[in-house]
Parts: sequence; structure tokens; C-alpha cells
Amino acid sequence: MNNDFKNNAIRGPINAFMFKVLSGYMDRLFGKSKRQLFRNHPETVVEIGSGTGANMRYLKPGTTLIAIEPNIHMHANLKKSADKYGINLEIKAIKGELIDLADNSCDFVVSTLVLCTVKSPEQCVKQIKRILKPSGTFIFIEHVKAQKNSILRWIQNIMHKPWHWFFEGCHTNRDTKQVLELAGFSSLKLVSYNLYSPFIPIVSQIRGRAIK
Ligand SMILES: C[S@@+](CC[C@H](N)C(=O)[O-])C[C@H]1O[C@@H](n2cnc3c(N)ncnc32)[C@H](O)[C@@H]1O
Repeated sequence: MNNDFKNNAIRGPINAFMFKVLSGYMDRLFGKSKRQLFRNHPETVVEIGSGTGANMRYLKPGTTLIAIEPNIHMHANLKKSADKYGINLEIKAIKGELIDLADNSCDFVVSTLVLCTVKSPEQCVKQIKRILKPSGTFIFIEHVKAQKNSILRWIQNIMHKPWHWFFEGCHTNRDTKQVLELAGFSSLKLVSYNLYSPFIPIVSQIRGRAIK
């Protein structure tokens, strides 16, 4: 395991449990957009930060999923989800900033609610671009920094510290939209929107598709 990710012995399992329990709710929130983003995905998909496998339900049975998930507490549920949805799972307990896949080797990379948490989103997106084949696709759904002077931004700033602690490094107010805009993809189709959810710090979101 070539990573320095701290697997917190208490918060790790609590988060894994929460993501598992919330997977039905997450499907209600994101299912429609995810079904569109995942449409026509290839036989092999690379996912950064797979968590407990929330996205497997959108993959065709028989898909090979290379799951880059440094938090070992997620792995048991990740394997259970793979069995449930008929996915061939390969887990890599490494960070998205240090991916050990070859340059230009992947057709399709996914991240949902992950670039908020990685230590360096710039480095992670650089790695995603590196492993994608020319014309390979990166799809994403991420919560982002709300508009300046908005109530949402104010709540994000107040909530940042406890949220960051509890959700093991998640930033409520990260400008992931700008990170993607500066990453140099040949095409970036991105929608900004507000989610209808009581989880106020993550209401401000982006989703879309980037082509290398
Ligand atoms: C909020 S969860 C999202 C899980 C899943 N993608 C989903 O949509 O439900 C964030 C995930 O990113 C993982 N993660 C944290 N730091 C990471 C890093 N540096 N590289 C890759 N994954 C990371 C966490 O362990 C966690 O599983």
C-alpha cells in the first residue's frame, strides 16, 4: 500500500457505515444525473474514491471496476456491493494523487464527492488526465464552494472545521470548478446547480463530463 492515508479507527468505520446506509438516499439525490453520466460506459471503469460502492448500481453487470480507495474501512462493503451488482472489482488502496496505472491507459474515469476530500485536487485531476487515453472521458459530481456573499457560503465556512474532521478531510468550500477549468481538458461540459438536501454544506454542486 503506497499511501500515507490515515485510516482513522473510529471515524473510518462510522463513515463507511453512514455511506452504506445513505446509499438509497444518494440514489434519490443523484440517480437521474448518474444514469445519464454513466450511459454507454466501457467495459472497464476506473473510480477515484469509490467509498462503499454507491456507483456500482449504475454500471452494467460484468463491468470491471478499478476502485482507487485508500480508506480500508470502506473495502468490505465495496466488495459486498460488487457481489450484489455483478461487478469485477479490483481495489487499489492508494490515493488519487498517486495512481499506479499507466499513462494513456483508461477510457473512463469517475469521481463523485471525492475531489472535496483528496489532499490535492490539482494533483488528483492531473493523475486522472495522465491515465486517460486521448479522448478518454472523466465524469464527475462534486460539491463546491457556494457563491460569494451567499448564505450557503457563510454556512459552508462555519461548518467547515467540524465537517472536515468528521468526514475525514472533506472541504465544504473548495473551488473544484476552478480546478477542473484550469486542468486543460480538451472539452469540459459542466453544470452548476443547487441540490435539494438538508445537508446544507454540500448543496452547491457541479456535475459534468471532461474529455482529455
Ligand atoms: C464522500 S466519500 C464518496 C464516496 C463515493 N464516491 C460516493 O459517491 O458515495 C469520499 C471518498 O473518497 C475517499 N478518499 C479520500 N481521500 C482520497 C484520496 N486522496 N484519493 C482517493 N480517494 C480518497 C474516501 O475514503 C471516501 O471513500
